[in-house]
Amino acid sequence: MNLIRIPKSWEISEGEVTSERAYFNRRSFIKSIVSASIGASSLALTGCESNKSESQKALEKSVNLPKIKSAVKNPDFARVDRPIADELLAARYNNFYEFGRTKNIWLKAQNLPTQNWQVEVTGLVNNPRTYDLDDLKREFPLEERIYRFRCVEAWSMVLPWIGFPMKALIAAVEPKSSAKYVRFTSFYDKEITKGPGVVFGPLPWPYHEGLRIEEMANELAFFAVGIYGHDLPKQHGAPLRMVVPWKYGFKGAKSIVKIEFLSSQPATYWNTIDAREYDFEANVNPDKPHPRWSQAREKFISKGPNLTWEIKETLPYNGYGEYVADLYV
Ligand code: MTE
Repeated sequence: MNLIRIPKSWEISEGEVTSERAYFNRRSFIKSIVSASIGASSLALTGCESNKSESQKALEKSVNLPKIKSAVKNPDFARVDRPIADELLAARYNNFYEFGRTKNIWLKAQNLPTQNWQVEVTGLVNNPRTYDLDDLKREFPLEERIYRFRCVEAWSMVLPWIGFPMKALIAAVEPKSSAKYVRFTSFYDKEITKGPGVVFGPLPWPYHEGLRIEEMANELAFFAVGIYGHDLPKQHGAPLRMVVPWKYGFKGAKSIVKIEFLSSQPATYWNTIDAREYDFEANVNPDKPHPRWSQAREKFISKGPNLTWEIKETLPYNGYGEYVADLYV
């Protein structure tokens, strides 16, 4: 029995996918339980309206990061039939619940401590190892891939990631034959993140996600260490995050500190909160509505500086069926 009400995972963003009336009802409910700054899912640069130019400078600084010169453009993923999102818009329209429940977390996310980052790769592997970020960047050839990105909330973007295929890590650590699943765990320190876990109670932190090992070995599955030609900004999940473009965006855990090869399916963050709304597989599927909204279409966001979108049809597997459909027959 649930003694404590866990908030529905996407209730703030639901405004973007439900009718205006439902939206404002939801908004007034939220306003009654949290402060206005948490309830407002807007693109205001910060809560500080009076000093936008300072905010703008801070936002620009958050993406002004070292270029990754060694990355080669992968010709198989050099373009999609939609424009790449405006960089500063993508940098202030994020989901990173450790830092709050709105899209506007970029400033709080700057508290993420990314110095001396280590990623432990463990579990059912012949070569367990703890990598630091430089090891990863040196040992795995980096490439740029332009991928579609589709959030379960029915918005989408196109983003130019830099990183390496997950299958390269699989080859390095040599999973045992008993390894069937992989769990990816995000950084969490409630003193630093002060996200909804602190405000609302016992959400299942740290954020954790999982894949079947065959999914992780798929050509598309990618670890990103960069975006837009440079290191990954904190709000996008620095310094290492998952990118699995045929799945809803919540499968892409940010700021990963641990990767474990397991014999059975791990629990995952959203699936633990509400399994009916967020299944483990979470493949983009226009024919399978979310219990609270349709997934047939999406708000495609590309241009800045203000939030605008075009409505587009959602494609099965987010347009990547030729790579992944075989995994699901
Ligand atoms: N990873 C962590 N650790 N915490 C999160 O809240 N949100 C997920 C995913 N990874 C999330 C996360 C969701 S719901 C989405 S849509 C994407 O990150 C958003 O990635 P972006 O902010 O880089 O666009």
